Order: sequence, then C-alpha cells, then structure tokens
Amino acid sequence: MGPPGAGKGTQGELLAETLGVSRLSTGDMLREARRAGTELGREARRYMDAGELVPDDVIVGMIGEALDAPAGTSSFVFDGFPRTIEQARGLDELLVARGEELDAVIDLAVGDEELVARISGRRVCESCDAVTHVSTVGDASRCEACGGRLIQRTDDRPETVRRRLQVYRDLTRPVLDYYRESVTPLMTVDGTGAVEEIQDRLMTALQRLAV
Ligand code: AP5
Repeated sequence: MGPPGAGKGTQGELLAETLGVSRLSTGDMLREARRAGTELGREARRYMDAGELVPDDVIVGMIGEALDAPAGTSSFVFDGFPRTIEQARGLDELLVARGEELDAVIDLAVGDEELVARISGRRVCESCDAVTHVSTVGDASRCEACGGRLIQRTDDRPETVRRRLQVYRDLTRPVLDYYRESVTPLMTVDGTGAVEEIQDRLMTALQRLAV
C-alpha cells in the first residue's frame, strides 16, 4: 500500500521476483483491460482518467477471478489493492473461502513533494509497459528495454494527480487503520532513497516477521 507514486509498482515487481511469487496489480490489470478494449476496460477508463476509484465490486470480482486463474504460484504480492475498507473486507472473504490469509501489509511512506516529483517524471512504455522516470533515462522518448515509445500516463496530469492524492487520503488511508486493528501485521517502510535501498528495507522487515 501507499499513495500514488510511492513506488508500489517498482517495489512490488522486485519483491515478487525475489520471493518467486506473482504480483497482482489492480492498476496494471485495469490498464490491460483498457488496452484490450473489454467492457471492464471501457468502464474503468472514465474513473481512472478522472482520478477516481473503480467501483469496489468490480475490483473484488477481478481479484477473485485472478486468484482462481491457474498460475505458477499460489502466493501473491498485491499492488494497489485493497484501496477501500470495502475492498479489504472483500479480500478477507476471498481468502477465508480459499483457506488462505494475508502474511503482511506493507505501507510505503513517501512525502507529498517527492510523490509529485516522481509522478510528473514518470514515463511508461507503450509497448512493454516498463515504468521509468525522466531523470534516469538517457532518451526520454524511447524505452531502454524494447525501444517502444515512452508516454505519460493519462492520469499523471497535474489536475488528475491532485484528485488521486485526495482520494488516497479519503478512502485508502483508512484501510491502514483497518489492518492496524486486525491480526495481520502492518509494516510501515520508508519509501524514500534508492530503489535497491528501499527493497532491502522491505526484505529486512519481512524477514523480521518470519522469525
Ligand atoms: P495505480 O496504477 O495503482 O496507480 P497509483 O496507486 O496511483 O500508483 P502509481 O502507479 O501512480 O504509483 P506507484 O506507487 O506504483 O509508483 P511507481 O512504482 O510507478 O492505479 C491507477 C488507477 O486505477 C487509480 O487511480 C484507479 O482509478 C484505478 N485503480 C487501481 N487499483 C484500484 C483499486 N484497487 N480500486 C479502485 N480503483 C483502482 O513509481 C512512480 C514513479 O517514481 C516512476 O516513474 C518510478 O520510476 C519512480 N520511482 C520509483 N521508486 C523511486 C525511487 N525510490 N526514487 C526515485 N524515483 C522512483
């Protein structure tokens, strides 16, 4: 968990790779549906471009389907989900029905100024979805991985970002209290500094949990 631009995708991808598990990013799943032009994608578009959340029943249904899909692993890193208390309850129900439980909730803490700098400089590859930042690439128009065109996400425009941050404060931050009152360990990890440094902090926090 964490506000827009906190590094959930960047860290979630590394974490899933290190742990050898799948990453389920609701943002990526919705963007994929948009690209494929499915009904879900068409419905999601108007919420996403306005910086609003896609309705809870749609999201929980999407995660339920993903959990049931045959995959290489039965363990997951959830990225950007749950984002409302309703979704957290929905996830609890999905897990109980499958005899599973959450090991931990990780909250990536990053200040507003840094969030805005990260989001305004974010570029994504139109072809392979790689996420990068203008400050770290030589050529801000081409993907280093596949040569595809780097673009700005439609919801990364300043007015939409302001709304996304507000939605995070109003609807998503309360989910942290939901977990604080639950048996699931909630760990707040400093999300500032180098990507690798943050990943080390995450792994250290998770290893402490396993002891
Ligand atoms: P989603 O895609 O989940 O967006 P978000 O939560 O706003 O998060 P971001 O993707 O903006 O940021 P991130 O934390 O993943 O950071 P990243 O690693 O990219 O959701 C988009 C929309 O979909 C929502 O607004 C909503 O409409 C809908 N949606 C999704 N899930 C939903 C749900 N559960 N319920 C309802 N609606 C839902 O990093 C950001 C930038 O910073 C990158 O450029 C990166 O290269 C850079 N960066 C990363 N780490 C560092 C670092 N350590 N130092 C410097 N730069 C860094």
